[in-house]
Amino acid sequence: MDEKKKIIVTGGAGYIGSHTVVALIENGYEPIVIDDFRNSQKAVVANLEKITGQKLSVHAIDCCNEEAVRNLFASEKPMGIIHFAAYKAVGESVENPLMYYQNNLQSLVVLLKMVKEFKVETFVFSSSCTVYGEPKGAISVDEGFPIAKAFSPYGQTKIICEQIIEDFHKSHPEGKMICLRYFNPVGAHESALIGEYPIGKPNNLLPFITQTAIGKREILTIFGKDYDTPDGTCIRDYIHVCDLAEAHVRSIAFLEKQNRGLLDAVNVGTGKGTSVKEMVDTFEEATGVELKHQFGPRRQGDVPAIYANNEKMQRVLGFTPQKTIRDSITSAWNWEKYIHENESSK
Ligand code: UFG
Repeated sequence: MDEKKKIIVTGGAGYIGSHTVVALIENGYEPIVIDDFRNSQKAVVANLEKITGQKLSVHAIDCCNEEAVRNLFASEKPMGIIHFAAYKAVGESVENPLMYYQNNLQSLVVLLKMVKEFKVETFVFSSSCTVYGEPKGAISVDEGFPIAKAFSPYGQTKIICEQIIEDFHKSHPEGKMICLRYFNPVGAHESALIGEYPIGKPNNLLPFITQTAIGKREILTIFGKDYDTPDGTCIRDYIHVCDLAEAHVRSIAFLEKQNRGLLDAVNVGTGKGTSVKEMVDTFEEATGVELKHQFGPRRQGDVPAIYANNEKMQRVLGFTPQKTIRDSITSAWNWEKYIHENESSK
């Protein structure tokens, strides 16, 4: 019997990581999770095992701990790495930039050392559309759009990480590497056993909506209603996390097929923009739950409208997102209800 291809998934118990673990297993890979649970829940592992019907290989290691990471690579000899583990809260990064630079850059450097030492064939990096900054005049952004200065230290770590990967690739051209630039990941697995678990008050729109609807937050404030958009609220490209997870598996499969090294950056989005108001309306309509909301001032640093040109993703990875905004909203709501039931039964 063929041995399954091992893929190291750092941050595999996190939001996007956990959904990618499911997608990898469904596609015949063997994920090896590295996650020290500083920003994720231990219960995710049991729920992943429920969803996949498999025992998972999970290692509670800090990716910055080079020796521990090296020991794991030496024993597992993975064929690929998907590197999610990183801090990602914009506001926190402004308060504590050094923590962001130290963790997000050092963990990447350690993993790239492993790529070289253990000749790991494929590498996928979790990047963000934040690298485009505020794309002046552009609404639909392709990968050729110039990398800007990011608004936050968090965003800046993504830009620097992409630069580190580019420099590394020049010294290691046989590496097959992709940076995936996510737009706005939303939604949860259809089982409602895994999803986004914000620590503290959520910054992102959909968790704020579902937490308000369940009664954890009093009211949703829509930041700004006088933008130059059809309904005056900001427009984003919300991609279902299961589609995003699938894009990672496609990236690994694409890289595997190449017979020489390469480095590329690919947008992952739906190619469609949805306004904040449309998100609120769709939530109410899809769930039948009335959402308390009000309009407030604009949030500093918000771009009026941005969505992906995802033509490259379709061409290179052969992948088109399958889920609708309604799927995202319904699954996020089911997940919020699951969290609520579990928290109240404790
Ligand atoms: N919004 C509200 N009320 C809220 C929360 C959000 O109106 O309570 C609005 C925002 O103003 C924005 C939209 O909902 O117009 C989406 O906001 P999110 O915070 O969910 O997402 P962003 O597009 O601002 O953030 C995303 C990623 C970040 C990344 C950033 C910059 O989540 O990681 O893009 O590119 F840094």
